[in-house]
Order: sequence, then C-alpha cells, then structure tokens
Amino acid sequence: MRALCWNGVNDLGVETVPDPELVNPRDVVLRVTLTTACGSDLHFIDGYLPSMREGDVIGHEFMGEVAKVGRKVENLEEGDRVVVPSFVGCGSCAYCRDDLWSLCDNTNPNPELQEPILGDATAGIYGYTHAFGGYAGSHAEYVRVPHAEENCFHVPDELSDEQALFASDAWPTGYMGADFCDIEPGDIVAVWGCGGVGLMAQHSARLMGAERVIGIDRFPERLRTARKEAGSETIDYTEVDSVVETLHEMTGGRGPDACIDAVGMEAHGTGVAHAYDRTKQALKLHTDRGDALRQAIRACRKGGTLSILGVYGVMDKFPMGVVMNKGLTVRTAQQHGQRYVPELLEHVEEGEMDPSYLATHEFSLEDSPRGYEMFKEKEDGCIRPVFTP
Ligand SMILES: NC(=O)c1ccc[n+]([C@@H]2O[C@H](COP(=O)([O-])OP(=O)(O)OC[C@H]3O[C@@H](n4cnc5c(N)ncnc54)[C@H](O)[C@@H]3O)[C@@H](O)[C@H]2O)c1
Ligand SMILES: [Zn+2]
Ligand SMILES: [Zn+2]
Repeated sequence: MRALCWNGVNDLGVETVPDPELVNPRDVVLRVTLTTACGSDLHFIDGYLPSMREGDVIGHEFMGEVAKVGRKVENLEEGDRVVVPSFVGCGSCAYCRDDLWSLCDNTNPNPELQEPILGDATAGIYGYTHAFGGYAGSHAEYVRVPHAEENCFHVPDELSDEQALFASDAWPTGYMGADFCDIEPGDIVAVWGCGGVGLMAQHSARLMGAERVIGIDRFPERLRTARKEAGSETIDYTEVDSVVETLHEMTGGRGPDACIDAVGMEAHGTGVAHAYDRTKQALKLHTDRGDALRQAIRACRKGGTLSILGVYGVMDKFPMGVVMNKGLTVRTAQQHGQRYVPELLEHVEEGEMDPSYLATHEFSLEDSPRGYEMFKEKEDGCIRPVFTP
C-alpha cells in the first residue's frame, strides 16, 4: 500500500510499504477514508521528539471503514464506518477503567524509551515515535487498530467524514482542555493558540457555557476563524506590548478564570526569554520554548485553572512560584479521546457544534508532503490539511 513516511528531519515522502495484517484476534484493519495532520506531528518532523526511525509511517488523526476483523472482535463488521482516537487504550487496565485512556498501561510496548524522561510511560499512539509505541500511522491506505472494540466508534450515517474526523484528536483534546476548566456561568476563558486544538478548546468552552472566550495567536485567518466559528474575542500577540497586561485590562484587572495552553513546545515569541529558549532548544540543552505557557501562568487570575494541552518535554525557567503563590489548579494530559468521542458525535448530530471548518485544505495521499508543508508554514490560511488515501 501507499503511505506517508518520515525519512529524517523535515524529510517526508510517500512510499510503498507492506499492508498491515491482523496481529492479535482483537485487532481490526481499517481502510482509511480521511486522515489529517496535527501540530504534534510538527514536533518530530522538526526533530524535537526523538525515537523516530527512517521509514516510519506517520499520522494519528483518522477515520475509516473496517476492512478486516479479528476473530475476537464482536461489535464491528466489515464495512462499518468508524472514527478512532489517537491514543490506543486497552479498556481493561486501571487507567482505562478510570477513563484516563492516554495513560493506558498496556498499549505502549516500549515504556523503557519514555521512563528515563517521564518516569512512567503513556499509552501508545499511532505514527508517533517509538517511545510512544512505534505503531504504524494513519497517513496510509490501511492501518491496524488494536483492541478494536474499545478504540473504534461507529459514525452515524448522517455525519460527513469531515464532521467525524476531528473527533479522533483535535476535538477531544480541545474539549478535554475546556472540561478541565470546570466552567461556571460568567467565566472568562483565555486560550493560547488558534490552531485546530486551540479552536476546538475555544468552541468547546463556549459550548460548556463560558461567558467570554479570548483566543490568542498571530495569524489573521486563524484569529478570524476563532471569532467567526467559536464566538471568541481575539488578541494578536504581535500587536500588543504585553499579552498578560492586555488580558488584565480585558478582565477588570483580575485575569481570566481559566487559561488554556494550546501551543506547546514550539511557541513563537519575542524578547530575551524567547531567544534563550531557542538557543537552548537548538543546543538540545532543554527541549521547550515556553513563551505561551509562561504567559498563561502569569495572566491567570488568583485561584484560577491552568489547562495545558500543548505538548512539552523539559523546560527551564518555569515560574512555579507564580503557580504556587497564586494558588492555580493545574490540569493537563494527553487526550483521553475514548472518554469524549460519543459525546462529541452527539453534539454534531444535535447541531450543537460542527468541527468540519478545521478542514481548510484537501489533498490526495500522494500530495500529502505538500499538505504538511502548507500546514507547517501556515500558508494560505491552512488550519488542517486533510488527506484522502
Ligand atoms: N494533549 C494532547 O493530547 C494533544 C493533542 C493534539 C495536539 N496537542 C498539542 O497541542 C498543541 C497545538 O496543536 P495544533 O494542532 O493546534 O497546532 P498548530 O501548529 O496548528 O497551532 C499552534 C498555534 O499556536 C500559535 N502560537 C505559537 N506561539 C504562540 C504564542 N506565543 N502565543 C499564542 N499562540 C502561539 C501558532 O501561531 C499556531 O497557530 C501542540 O503542542 C500539539 O502537540 C496535544
Ligand atoms: Zn494530535
Ligand atoms: Zn488500558
């Protein structure tokens, strides 16, 4: 089959690779009908996440049609249309039973690659480094889905592929980030980043009853989408002296009740702290550029919630004293998709929220390297390029 492979830092190519097979009786093989790029992919494309190997098939946000069914899979049949969360859950360990699916203890066969840095390993994820399990990714004609009964969610017939696709990763991530904020009527929520994840966080925060949502970014089309689709107010951080002061001015001097980081380790920024981060990241002395997260910590009102969705490794100059003295509640995780997907599909069915506006550009799988280039450079207003194998 054809698949998009990582061949080195900033080197992607569509190649012919072996078709996936059923390995375990609880697997299915899915014919991928739609798959998309995520900001997390940029971290290993740019070389900031180790343990990719030449020829790895990438991609973790996808949906498709069941093509082959393992003999112990009872709730799926050939031809079923399903969406699959990016982290693989087993459904039976203590974490999966507690709905903390990205912490699954059974689906990452390479925990020893994560343990030196993280202490304990996460679940496995498709197409996302060997430290995260080494599973083949979804930018391919077919993908193997382990523990299929727990990981495949039927898509209602009336939903289009674009309406269901983002329930795989961008939407449950943003939705979880908003859920972490325990939003009460009257709350003001600020979100750093207006990419797919930040937009989903903003839109979900509105859905959960936030009175005001403020989106922060520098790309005019992304800020426009935040206003139009999520009903957000916006700040272009390149046009203000200080994002923290601007947020204080917008919130009667207090700061937002909750601050969501949907930027992560490749934050763009200005000033001395950013130059310091860039240099240390380039020298591999630490992995993260923390501009957005540091601002979120400083901006949040006393006693507020800091919800971190951006992916991080190791960061210097983390203002822990601000977190501590302001009494912030910190909530964070890789996304627990299986917990949210049924609820998300219901929101689309009920006409309460439709995430398909994230799909700004369509490509064939053969043209996916071009799609990644556009996504990475944010060309032509690209928010998510979607690929049809
Ligand atoms: N927790 C999870 O399970 C999970 C899932 C998916 C993605 N992520 C992470 O979420 C983050 C966002 O993902 P995405 O797909 O939306 O990425 P993206 O690259 O499409 O968007 C990131 C946005 O952040 C903006 N940005 C950069 N620096 C900023 C700053 N200083 N202030 C405000 N905005 C800034 C960029 O302009 C961009 O629009 C990434 O770190 C990704 O790895 C986490
Ligand atoms: Zn992702
Ligand atoms: Zn588990």
